[in-house]
Amino acid sequence: MSDSTLHLNYKKYVLDDKLQYFKPHATKIENSFADEIKFSLSRDKKFISPKFFYDIKGSELFESICSLPEYYPTRTEVSILEQLQEDLLEYLDDSFRLVELGSGSSTKTRLILDIFEKFQSKIEYFPIDISEILTESSEILLSNYENLHITGIIDTYEGGLEFLKNYDTKKNLIIFLGSSFGNFSPDDGVEFLKKIHSTMKSGDLFLIGLDLVKDYSILESAYNDSAGVTAAFNLNVLSRINDELDADFDLNNFAHHSVYNESAQRIEMYLKSLVNQTVVISQSDMKIQLRKNELIHTEYSHKFKLSQLNSLFEDIGFDVNHTWFDEKKYFSLTLLSKK
Ligand code: AVJ
Repeated sequence: MSDSTLHLNYKKYVLDDKLQYFKPHATKIENSFADEIKFSLSRDKKFISPKFFYDIKGSELFESICSLPEYYPTRTEVSILEQLQEDLLEYLDDSFRLVELGSGSSTKTRLILDIFEKFQSKIEYFPIDISEILTESSEILLSNYENLHITGIIDTYEGGLEFLKNYDTKKNLIIFLGSSFGNFSPDDGVEFLKKIHSTMKSGDLFLIGLDLVKDYSILESAYNDSAGVTAAFNLNVLSRINDELDADFDLNNFAHHSVYNESAQRIEMYLKSLVNQTVVISQSDMKIQLRKNELIHTEYSHKFKLSQLNSLFEDIGFDVNHTWFDEKKYFSLTLLSKK
C-alpha cells in the first residue's frame, strides 16, 4: 500500500525530526461526536461513550484520579511493571518498536521505554490516543529520552490499529495498560481483541493490563473517592458537550453515581438527573427530556478473574507467554503473541 493511500484520512504534522503525528481530518472527528451523542442520548436507556471523557480537562482529571488513595489500579500496575522489566527483556530485541493504545500522559510508558533503552540505540514509539494531550506528553518524553522518535496517532483505538496494520515490517510490542480494556462490554471486548489479533504480524507482542475481581467495598471506593475527583471526571463530559456541541446541561442538576454489579463483574458509572429537565444540544440538533432520577450510563469498568483470562485469550488465537501480578492479586499484566 502506498503511503498516500494508507494515510488518506489523516493529516500529517511533522514537528521536528523526532516528532510527527497523524490526525484524522477535522470534520471526521467533529461529525462523529455530534452524531454519536445524538444516537446515544436518544435511546430509551441513555448513554455517553466513555471515550468522550478525555478532552484536555478530562485527561487532567483522570491523571488526578490515578494518584488518589482509593484508586489502587495505577499504583498497583506500576509496581508490577517495575518488577517485570528483566522478564520482558527476554522477549524483545532490536527489531521492536513500542506501540501504546490510550497512552494518556505516558507515565507508565517510561517503565517500558527504560527497557528499550537497554538494548536499542534508536527507540521508536507510536502512541495512539484520542486526546490531544498526546502531543504534550510526547514533547516531555522526548526531552527525557535522547534516542526516542515518536509518531503519534490521534485517533480512536480502532482507527489507530487500522493505521498500524500493514504499516511496515518492523515488529510491534503493543501495550494496552490501565485496564482500559474493562470499558468494553464483553462482546465488544472480544471484537476488540480480535481486531488487535488481526492487526498483529506473527512475532508481534501484546501486553495487556487488567484489573482483577476483589472485595466490592474496595472497588466501590475506588470509583467514589472522598475528594470527589471521580465525580468531577464523570460530570466533565457534560461540560465538554456544552462547549463543543453547544448544549445547555446544568451540571448542578446531575450527580455522579457508581456501583459494583457483582454478577456482571463490573463497576457501572452513571450521571443521575436530579430533576425533571429538558436539555438542548444544538450541534446534534436535538432536545432531550430527562426524568428525575433517570440515569445516563457513562462507563463500565469490568473486573476479571485470572481463571477466565487464559481461555478468553486462547479462544481468540493468542498464545499466553507470561502473566504477572502483584502480591494481593489486585491487578495482572499478560504478554500475548500470535500463533
Ligand atoms: C481508564 C477506563 C481504566 O475504568 O478505572 C477511573 C477510568 N473511571 N475512574 C477505570 C476511570 C473512573 C478507568 N479506565
